[in-house]
Amino acid sequence: MERKNILVTGGMGYIGSHTVIKLVEYGYNPIIIDNLANSSEKVLPRLEKITGTKIAFYKGDVCNREDVDKVLSENKIDAVIHFAGLKAVGESVQKPVEYYRNNLDSTLTLLEEMPKYGVKNIIFSSSATVYGTPTHVPLVESDPIGQATNPYGQTKIIQEGIFQDYCHVHPDFNVALLRYFNPIGAHASGLIGEAPNGIPNNLMPYVTQVAVGKRDHLSIFGDDYNTPDGTCIRDYIHVVDLAEGHVLTLKKLFENPGLVIYNLGTGKGTSVLELVHAYEKATGVKIPYVIAPRRAGDVEANYAATDKAEREIGFKAKYTVEDSCRDSNHWQQMNPNGYED
Ligand code: WQD
Repeated sequence: MERKNILVTGGMGYIGSHTVIKLVEYGYNPIIIDNLANSSEKVLPRLEKITGTKIAFYKGDVCNREDVDKVLSENKIDAVIHFAGLKAVGESVQKPVEYYRNNLDSTLTLLEEMPKYGVKNIIFSSSATVYGTPTHVPLVESDPIGQATNPYGQTKIIQEGIFQDYCHVHPDFNVALLRYFNPIGAHASGLIGEAPNGIPNNLMPYVTQVAVGKRDHLSIFGDDYNTPDGTCIRDYIHVVDLAEGHVLTLKKLFENPGLVIYNLGTGKGTSVLELVHAYEKATGVKIPYVIAPRRAGDVEANYAATDKAEREIGFKAKYTVEDSCRDSNHWQQMNPNGYED
């Protein structure tokens, strides 16, 4: 059977690159478009080494109509997985216009160009951030969309709305909104992983940089929350599990379901201190830390209800937080400066 072509926007990024590997493993043909604004071209040869096959890559901007048209006219695309977007919460507060322009334009451009080439399937990289400040946990897909605590989260809420409105008048169009919780971990090879620019905003890349001696200690933002150990709780999901969830969702899209929404998480909450201890246990590396003031915008606890994804697409996370700590550490030990090495 001919391999289906999957356009992966932002496919050189952290989650995108892991999904490209999974797509090849499942017999799909991934085609990457990425402007390399927040990723490295060095990812491509590593993806080809891991998969043992050539991977098509277009350097381009998904906001740019000509760039999108070039890929769609040169390839018969069966589905799009849309990762491309700016995603740093703190940065979005400082640069709201850049975030709204970039994240909304990319989705609008895809929705204008895809129908011209008969492409009617798309997976959107959404986020648990759309739930806002949870009133309860675990979070269920039918829970109301919350009030975003930052422009990044607001762009995800607006993009979900754009897809909802589009599907309302295009019944033959299929969309999957995948709400990621907290992706961590790395491919077992240690060849690809999370490589944030500058000082990491997120917990795991900061911990791995402490582990390799790039940072001398971790600051834990608050230990006075109403949680068992006082630190915030999140649902940390291995990025390889997350990638698997995308491939299982593709199968669902080809059944013409219309618009579907799934949480991609483990269903288990882990506190900051529990993650630090899991890291030390999994790697034998001590992670010195200090307790610092709370970070604005942090929610006390959020983790996923996972039964809808399990029931409808057969998704269940396989890796534990310790597995993720081991793999993140392996990636960082092999690449202390990320892709700069
Ligand atoms: C997790 C916990 C921090 C750093 C955000 C976005 C989400 C997704 C992931 C893009 C919190 C604590 C962190 C540190 C710390 N974004 N922390 N010291 O905020 O849950 O989610 O990033 O894909 O959409 O909302 O992730 O890793 O920043 O924080 O104590 O140096 O770790 O306070 O409790 P978050 P995070």
